[in-house]
Amino acid sequence: MRPADLTRRKQAGLPITVLTAWDALSAAVVAGAGVDAVLVGDSLAMAVLGHATTLPVTLEEMLHHCRAAGRGLAAAAPNGSPLLICDLPFLTYQCGLEEALAAAGRVLKETPAVAVKLEGAEPETLAVIDRMVRSGIPVMGHLGLTPQSVHQLGYRRQAGDPVSQERLRRRALALQEAGCFALVLEHIPAELATELSLRLAIPVIGIGAGDGCDGQVRVTADLLGLTSRQPPFSPPLVDGRAIAGEALGRWVREQRAPAAPPAAPPTRPASPAAPHC
Ligand code: KIV
Repeated sequence: MRPADLTRRKQAGLPITVLTAWDALSAAVVAGAGVDAVLVGDSLAMAVLGHATTLPVTLEEMLHHCRAAGRGLAAAAPNGSPLLICDLPFLTYQCGLEEALAAAGRVLKETPAVAVKLEGAEPETLAVIDRMVRSGIPVMGHLGLTPQSVHQLGYRRQAGDPVSQERLRRRALALQEAGCFALVLEHIPAELATELSLRLAIPVIGIGAGDGCDGQVRVTADLLGLTSRQPPFSPPLVDGRAIAGEALGRWVREQRAPAAPPAAPPTRPASPAAPHC
C-alpha cells in the first residue's frame, strides 16, 4: 500500500481501515485482520509504555517500536503489507523546519514506515508539512482532539460551537493545501466530519467522529479492551483484560494444583505365544 492507494479507495467509495500497532506481535495481528494501514501512534506512550499522556514518548522510542512493527508486517504479509505510518512525537516537529525535517527523515530512513503523522495546523506546522512533502515525505494530518495539546484542550470533544467548527474547516482545508495525503479527525461532531469527508479530496479517517468519514482508525489496545483508560468514543470489542487475565490465571492455578498421583504403569496381558528364554 502507498498513500495514493488510500485516495484511490476514497475515490472508489471503499471504506479505509487503520489500526495502531506497537510491536511485531500486534502488527502481525492487525495485518492478519486485513487493515489498509497500520499506525505506530504515539498513543503507545499511554497504551503500552504506561505514561499518563502521549507527551513523554521520544523519537528514539517511536523508531524502535516502528522497526518492530515493520518486522511483524513483513512476516505476516510478505507479499504486500498495509501502509505503515509513524507518529512524530511531541516537540520533534515544533522546534523549527530543519529539526522537523530531520525527525521525519529518520522515520523514513531508519524504519519501514512510508509516511509520518503529526498534529495541528498552526502556520508553523503548515510550513513544516509543506517542507516535508516537497522533500518526498508523505504526511498525514490530525485535527480535533489532538492529544499532544492535552494541557490546552484536555481530552474533551472538540469543535462543539460554530466558531470552532469554522476554524476546524479552515484548518482541514489548509492541511490539504499544504500537501497532507490524508487527515485524521478525532472526537468531533459527526456532521462536521461527514461534511469534511465530502468536501476534501484527501481521505478523512475518523475516530470518535461518526460513521460518515472515508475511513476509521482505532487504537488496537482500546478495541481489544486491553487499556486501563478506555476513551468513551472508542468502546472495546472484547474485554481483553478479563479474557487474558482469566486464561493466565487458570494456567497459574494449574501449575499450583497439587500434583496428581502418578498413574499406574500399564499392565501387559501375558501372551501364550511369548517366547520363554
Ligand atoms: O496515536 C494514535 O494512536 C493516534 C490515533 C488515535 C489516531 O493518533
